[in-house]
Amino acid sequence: MRAVARVLLLLCAGCTAVELPAQGVLRREVDRVLNTYWRGREGYAISAKEERRINRGDGNPGLYGELAPEGARRLAEEWGLCEGGKAVATFADLGSGVGKLVVQSYLEWPGVHRALGVELSATRAKRALEAWEALLLSDEAFELRQMALNLAGDNDATPNPAEEVKLLHGDLLDADLSDVTHAYVSSLCFPESLIFDVSLKLKQAPRLRAVASLQPLNLDSGARLLALPTSWTSRRGMGTIAHFYDLG
Ligand SMILES: C[S@@+](CC[C@H](N)C(=O)[O-])C[C@H]1O[C@@H](n2cnc3c(N)ncnc32)[C@H](O)[C@@H]1O
Repeated sequence: MRAVARVLLLLCAGCTAVELPAQGVLRREVDRVLNTYWRGREGYAISAKEERRINRGDGNPGLYGELAPEGARRLAEEWGLCEGGKAVATFADLGSGVGKLVVQSYLEWPGVHRALGVELSATRAKRALEAWEALLLSDEAFELRQMALNLAGDNDATPNPAEEVKLLHGDLLDADLSDVTHAYVSSLCFPESLIFDVSLKLKQAPRLRAVASLQPLNLDSGARLLALPTSWTSRRGMGTIAHFYDLG
């Protein structure tokens, strides 16, 4: 009962967050580039063979869905990454699909200095890279990142998107998390064994301060609950409950 009350409270806080006009422009531009450059590069369809390899017969971790752009904004608000000041955080999406959340975090969250995505599906990782490289070539990544930093009052930094965003193909359990401060795990369909291994992996990440996961993790700290809009929840619905952990 307490947890439900907390979710509602946090939901209300998320809804009432004031959006400044210039921030609204940035967000609409980010939505536009995510729609444009990722068209035809969606993460849903991969071969049955690849899906079998990812699922390894245990659970369904290869099942696809995305955090909606509004869900990403709630995540950033909850972590205080929308605010100004020097960008110091390194964000990682572990199981990053076609990389939209990673790119959104970099373009839109001024508190993030570097963004990393790790994805096991070769097809999704390839689509992520293709979309990101097309966006880099257009210079829109640079321009939107600069707009986000300027909006946050940082007029000195020169963005270097090609260096500051990494979209990797591989197993999240093998990823180098040594610089990561904030991690998101879309773990809803992860089997118990993978949840166990992810928890161990995260406990060993030396700079990790905050984690959000769609399934509870074992991280030696209590979780706050917050509903995040996703591609599989209705636009008017609450979203999917995520577990937020603050680490030492
Ligand atoms: C539900 S999707 C989430 C996509 C993205 N994070 C988002 O929220 O928009 C989960 C992704 O995790 C990937 N995945 C599953 N097991 C993985 C592993 N061990 N290492 C890396 N990625 C994995 C799947 O292939 C899938 O693309």
